[in-house]
Amino acid sequence: MASPLVVVSNRGPLAFELDDGELRTKKAGGGLATVMGGAVQGTAATWVAGALSDADRRAAERGMVEAEGFHVELLTLDPADYASYYDVISNATLWFLHHGLWDTPRRPRFDRAWWQAWDGYRRVNRAFAERVAGCAPAGAQVLVQDYHLCLVGEHLCDLRPDLSVVHFHHTPFASPTEWRMLPAAVGNELLNGLTAYTACGFHNQRWANAFEATARDAGVTPPPTFVSPATADAADIEKVAASAPCDDALDRLDRLVGDRKLIVRVDRIELSKNIVRGFLAYDDLLRTRPEWRERVVFGAFVYPSREGLAEYQAYRQEVEGVIDRINAEWSTPGWTPILYDAQDDFPRSVAALRRFDVLLVNPVRDGLNLVAKEGMIVNERDGVLALSRESGVFAELGDVALEVHPFDVVGTSDALHRGLSMTDDERRTHFTRAHERVLQRTGADWLADQMNAAAQ
Ligand code: F6P
Repeated sequence: MASPLVVVSNRGPLAFELDDGELRTKKAGGGLATVMGGAVQGTAATWVAGALSDADRRAAERGMVEAEGFHVELLTLDPADYASYYDVISNATLWFLHHGLWDTPRRPRFDRAWWQAWDGYRRVNRAFAERVAGCAPAGAQVLVQDYHLCLVGEHLCDLRPDLSVVHFHHTPFASPTEWRMLPAAVGNELLNGLTAYTACGFHNQRWANAFEATARDAGVTPPPTFVSPATADAADIEKVAASAPCDDALDRLDRLVGDRKLIVRVDRIELSKNIVRGFLAYDDLLRTRPEWRERVVFGAFVYPSREGLAEYQAYRQEVEGVIDRINAEWSTPGWTPILYDAQDDFPRSVAALRRFDVLLVNPVRDGLNLVAKEGMIVNERDGVLALSRESGVFAELGDVALEVHPFDVVGTSDALHRGLSMTDDERRTHFTRAHERVLQRTGADWLADQMNAAAQ
């Protein structure tokens, strides 16, 4: 008989909102709920997650939440500890480290406030472990997700040695040289925390190799690793694509774009996504290939993320400044080169993915990148994928995409031109191969890989 299953993540599959004083559930944001939700929904698995909003905390007061086919244990945390763990350590430190985002003359700075935040990260990891220890059935397999929760496994080894606990990192992993930027005691505590897991999983072999090399460089023997790229849930996204809100959004987009070509990006407003260089490449395209002026539109369907961090607020300003500059320079009566929409509206994003001629996915580094897969599932125009070689998904789709070097603005401009210029036959061949490739794996395959790793 299969072992009982417990999933653990910072952000769970459901988010709550208050509507006229009533608690209602809505689908949680973020890729994790998208990739894992479909496979876990309707099963007996327990999902332990943080209570992230006031409405979540109200729901948590009622105990285990049973909704939409999920059994969710919401963990209410001390707000100051949560800010330390999520903003300062998880996002402003580990996210930046693993994605190579630091502007090193200025950041990082491990000052006294940062060291206090580190203690908050430890306490929150301990709190997650205690909640799992309290609710996991005997002998359960526990799948702990992401860089927020590196230290949960070692606490569970002490609290519940009957459990088999696996960790899955959704980000890239820092190289040994990058890892040395962390204070040694912190780096070693994190690596030793990860070695307590039965195994550590990654979306791409490069990140698994980096983790092993980094551990060895620090004198730590890495645990077994496994590579299992997640995938978008095809049935789920096709359902959204077939919905009335998505059709309405597509009609609106069609009216705006008309018979022009459409470049699309769908991203969180996030430094690793490389949004500014994407626009600079488009600017270069319009400057150097005048034949595209008035014949193409760039639809940027991006949505705010981690707005508590100054770096993200500044990045959004930079993105909007570049858009304003490009639109001011190239617009003509009846043509706006960049359509910018910063609403968090999933049906609208899916409409854009149905409609693109070229999908630009050019992150500076990315654990996987689900948008590339989602686009290749729902597109209706034999659209072409321009894909960063630094995204985890490049290992699966690189040979059926136009390769983008994320720092090469001119090369990206060339890739956009190439994608826009393909013949119908070339587009069809390219799209069909990518579409078939994406459908080869399911969310259930990804979940099964983690469970198999736990069973070793
Ligand atoms: O890519 C790692 C990840 O944790 C994803 O699972 C998620 O989609 C994304 O980052 C968003 O993170 P957050 O929960 O901070 O919005």
